[in-house]
Amino acid sequence: MAQAAVRDVQVGYLENAQRELAARTMRSQRMASDRTEVINGAMAASGTCPPPIFVSQNEGAYFEDLDGNVYLDTCMGFGVHVLGHRPRPVEDALRAQLAKGWHLSLRGEEQLAYARLIQSAAPWNERVVFCNTGTEATLYAIRAARALTGKSKIAKFDISYHGAHDGVLIWPAPGSPADTPTPMSFGYGITDGVMSDVILLPYRHPAALAAIAAHRDELAAVLVEPVQGSLPEADVGGFLAELRALCDDLGLILIFDEVLTGFRLAFGGAQERYGVTADITTYGKAAGGGLPIGVVAGRKDLMDAFGDFTAPKGIFFGGTFSGNPLSITAGRSTLRHLDSHREIYDHIDGLTARLTEGFNGFSARNGYSARIVSCGSMWQIFFRNEVLSDFEYEGKDAEGAFYLHCLNMGVFIHATHRCYLSAAHTDEHVNQLLHVFETALHMVRADGLG
Ligand SMILES: Cc1ncc(COP(=O)(O)O)c(C=O)c1O
Repeated sequence: MAQAAVRDVQVGYLENAQRELAARTMRSQRMASDRTEVINGAMAASGTCPPPIFVSQNEGAYFEDLDGNVYLDTCMGFGVHVLGHRPRPVEDALRAQLAKGWHLSLRGEEQLAYARLIQSAAPWNERVVFCNTGTEATLYAIRAARALTGKSKIAKFDISYHGAHDGVLIWPAPGSPADTPTPMSFGYGITDGVMSDVILLPYRHPAALAAIAAHRDELAAVLVEPVQGSLPEADVGGFLAELRALCDDLGLILIFDEVLTGFRLAFGGAQERYGVTADITTYGKAAGGGLPIGVVAGRKDLMDAFGDFTAPKGIFFGGTFSGNPLSITAGRSTLRHLDSHREIYDHIDGLTARLTEGFNGFSARNGYSARIVSCGSMWQIFFRNEVLSDFEYEGKDAEGAFYLHCLNMGVFIHATHRCYLSAAHTDEHVNQLLHVFETALHMVRADGLG
């Protein structure tokens, strides 16, 4: 696949950018329109965003759209592709497994070796079970905690995302106080009963610790994204250690949702990076090497809940595709590669740090409000003091215009604005990103938007 060249962009107007984009994405637009006849929901179904971009192929740090435009990718499958798109070891392993078949009902030998890799990443993961997504993993971890403790409530942090099941789609209502977020369901269809089983906590706020202590008798577990996908701040070690100590004091189960951070922030995830361990950990994304996976892992006495569901404290878990050979094979080859090439973490963290410093320095020197917040290889540009923007991409404000200009200069930033670098990204790519971001900021200012 041909690589994207950094196109020279003259200072221009938003209108030109919108026209240019429309002209070079005709096939994607047709696809977007045809899809509405049968497929609902751009975000849920495909993660596309307005303006419509549909992918034809991807490789390394790039993807090509239906119209043949090539983009430098910063979304990397929502953080999945730590090794880049279609890494050779994974593709080779998948081809070999395809030649053997992709049976489902019986197990082959691949699961054991994979489980041992998960265990070696965090040796306190004494037992491991497989499911298909991060959503399933957090659902099972919560169910297990409830079964083990006989208690119903879960404490979760305000803007943390733990998947699409009812029990975690609870967010702070807009304008609610920082120390006592008012719970609001993310979309309709979540019952009051489900809502009442969640204690919503302010992330990294002392009030969270007080609330956990106050609800100790009702809490089955405390669930935390050790580094938040929506605000990837790096200096969270102290907070995680405090949470660990509190859960130890109160005898509460601490669940780390490492679906995003596992095998991305370090081979041992956030727990290795910060030296704080969880009782139960959920994995997904990178752990599946690009194919769907969910993993729940943890201390043996807790993981015993995943056994006989008719026994006391046993839970039901299952799934036709759980632990399927293709996902396990992709995950196993990815983890093996990461395990034997730990220098990848220095590489992706170093690139992200250079990007963060370069961008923030430029932005400050030129009086822009935008800045990058990053942790390891997770990063996000914020325009308004870490306030999450809408999934707005159409240039109605400075932020929307910025992303539109980036897209026209060959840099794809997904509408969630969550970005990740991978082993396939290079120093040159960081130079390209800095050049494109700086140019886009100037264009936004030239348009009088920011
Ligand atoms: C921290 C975290 N937990 C859980 C999930 C849900 O994973 P999945 O999309 O595989 O269901 C996500 C997905 O973004 C996530 O970031």
